[in-house]
Amino acid sequence: SQQRAHRIAVIPGDGIGKEVVPAGLDVLRAAADAFDLRLEFEEFDFACAAYWQAHGAMLPQDWQTILQGFDAIYFGAVGWPEVVPDHVSLWGSLIQFRRVFDQYVNLRPCRLMPGVRGPLAGRGPGDIDFLVVRENTEGEYSSVGGRIFEGTERETVLQETVMTRIGVDRVLRYAFEQARRRPERHLTSATKSNGISISMPYWDERVRAIAAEYPDVTWDQYHIDALAAHFVLNPDRFDVVVASNLFGDILSDLGPACTGTLGIAPSANINPERRHPSLFEPVHGSAPDIAGRGVANPIGQIWCGSMMLEHLGHPAAAAHVLAAIESVLAEASPRTLTPDLHGTGTTAGLGKAIAERVRATP
Ligand code: NAI
Ligand code: MG
Repeated sequence: SQQRAHRIAVIPGDGIGKEVVPAGLDVLRAAADAFDLRLEFEEFDFACAAYWQAHGAMLPQDWQTILQGFDAIYFGAVGWPEVVPDHVSLWGSLIQFRRVFDQYVNLRPCRLMPGVRGPLAGRGPGDIDFLVVRENTEGEYSSVGGRIFEGTERETVLQETVMTRIGVDRVLRYAFEQARRRPERHLTSATKSNGISISMPYWDERVRAIAAEYPDVTWDQYHIDALAAHFVLNPDRFDVVVASNLFGDILSDLGPACTGTLGIAPSANINPERRHPSLFEPVHGSAPDIAGRGVANPIGQIWCGSMMLEHLGHPAAAAHVLAAIESVLAEASPRTLTPDLHGTGTTAGLGKAIAERVRATP
């Protein structure tokens, strides 16, 4: 085809990352064939425990130069606590990518899929389908603060929330844009302006200001405590949910938890301006308890591939991959499904079933 190839950096990482990434790549290759897309993959062996053992660092010094030229990063999972402490592996790799590449949006779709037993009674496929948009670079996770009078009675600890107009507005605009593109066109803002009386009223004020730019999107806001309860009690109420870093961190675990297994949940760390590559990774980690047995669920990784295709400008291919996941989940025999889905299948087998479905019906 005429179009330019998309260059994708592939980083499997540790544990089941090395098992689910190949399954994800199979599906991406199938989508590329079905939609005549050019995807070029280049695999890297850094951001894992073996690299750390060999080099004493999680990443090469010039990682930024190496990765900057790619259109996206397709990431598995990092962490092998027997070898590297988790704070070292995480801060030495993923957090570097998010900060240096200004991936200020963390996206987590939450959808109850067919064939998946969710923990909420009386909810079926289609009842839960929302998108959590988390601010990923500022807010409550600042390093402004400190301790004084340590070890005395006056011991004092302070950590400040940092909200900038640029930082708040850009994530709100991204969330409103997402809402505008979905059928319900509804946005919910997570706040706590009754208790956090300076920064959260500011957040609310910016929500009102940005909402005025999107008259076609309806919106509401909930205090974070009530919002958490509604995720469980009335998940059908939500379409796009936007939240500060801390609130979004909690909601983006609670949301996928309401829809069943960790093995299917995807996430994306996005630099919307595309000055830097965005990163697509499953929500789960390296799962040392099941690694090496070839039974990890590859769907979280495969769904990330769908999000990546969307980001690269191929919404039809993205929707097609998601539909293939749904139809395989709905129709596959327990011999194809992985143990977390109450089947007896393997990572490779489930990945192959989805790749075949992608190839079969363009
Ligand atoms: P985890 O997500 O790796 O595993 C939690 C539980 O879910 C385990 O019982 C695991 O077997 C199961 N599980 C996870 N993914 C699965 C899949 N695809 N299919 C079937 N079952 C699955 O979280 P854990 O155990 O807390 O962390 C293990 C390591 O992963 C640590 O080193 C941690 O730091 C790292 N980690 C890395 C993340 C990342 O790369 N973004 C995210 C979370 C944890
Ligand atoms: Mg979290």
